[in-house]
Amino acid sequence: MLILSTHNKYNKMNIIIIGATSGIGKEIAGIYIDQGHKVGLTGRRKALLEEIKGDNENIHISTYDVNAEDAPVHLMELIEQMGGVERVIYSSGYGKSNPELDLEKELHTADVNVKGFMRHATTLFNYWNNNNLQGHMTVISSIAGIRSLGIAPSYSATKNYQSFYFEALRQLASMKKAKISFTAIKPGFVATDFIAGKNYPFTLNKEIVARKIVKAVDRKRKNYVIYGIWRPIALLMRIIPPFLWRGAIGRLIGRSDN
Ligand SMILES: NC(=O)c1ccc[n+]([C@@H]2O[C@H](COP(=O)([O-])OP(=O)(O)OC[C@H]3O[C@@H](n4cnc5c(N)ncnc54)[C@H](OP(=O)(O)O)[C@@H]3O)[C@@H](O)[C@H]2O)c1
Repeated sequence: MLILSTHNKYNKMNIIIIGATSGIGKEIAGIYIDQGHKVGLTGRRKALLEEIKGDNENIHISTYDVNAEDAPVHLMELIEQMGGVERVIYSSGYGKSNPELDLEKELHTADVNVKGFMRHATTLFNYWNNNNLQGHMTVISSIAGIRSLGIAPSYSATKNYQSFYFEALRQLASMKKAKISFTAIKPGFVATDFIAGKNYPFTLNKEIVARKIVKAVDRKRKNYVIYGIWRPIALLMRIIPPFLWRGAIGRLIGRSDN
């Protein structure tokens, strides 16, 4: 039976991390596990999930592809197994630089970052709203979603899509008087498998990034650009005139992608 309230006397929460097998999602999971919350972890690599779980009864795992048609079924089964959920972090993501515009890469990026993301966002919204529950969903978007990137068209467009979609869901939640909130995290480069072998500037440490994300989620920030040099870069990206962005800056970004 699905238990609808997940607060217990220690004010611990039930938290699910989608894409917890590596990188930022795995680091965030580690923090929540250390804090004693009941966590649900997902990803396609079962052995990695089992390794994190060990014999910890506070950890529940589910192996599935975010863009499989039955992903919402897996998500709801995990929620049921945990007795409810009030916080979900969607960290699954795919992105490759693709200046040659390989169609398969572009489509796969959209599958994970848009279709998989929506399969989770819609399922969670309806679960929280229909049961009159409080819920909070976070997506690990990217600074790449602030301004379109010629070297990664699908990646930058899908990362923009995620925060735009959340803006719409915020409005929908307000129309329905639902107690659901949304956070879009926008990191710059973070040292994970995602950018392995690349020589990108200002690469951040994933442990610090995860701690900053957990804090921003606690504060229910709507949009949060990760710390340091990435804040002024994000500001510059927002205000720079289009002709400059397409020209000099575009070439500079293209050169660092090696
Ligand atoms: N690293 C960066 O520089 C950077 C910068 C900005 C934003 N981000 C964003 O941060 C998020 C996490 O990336 P990361 O840096 O932590 O990279 P990562 O270590 O490669 O982690 C990616 C995670 O996504 C999961 N995933 C990928 N495709 C999936 C699919 N089809 N179904 C289910 N899970 C899938 C992977 O799990 P399985 O392979 O086990 O399925 C893995 O847990 C991504 O959304 C990325 O866009 C990263």
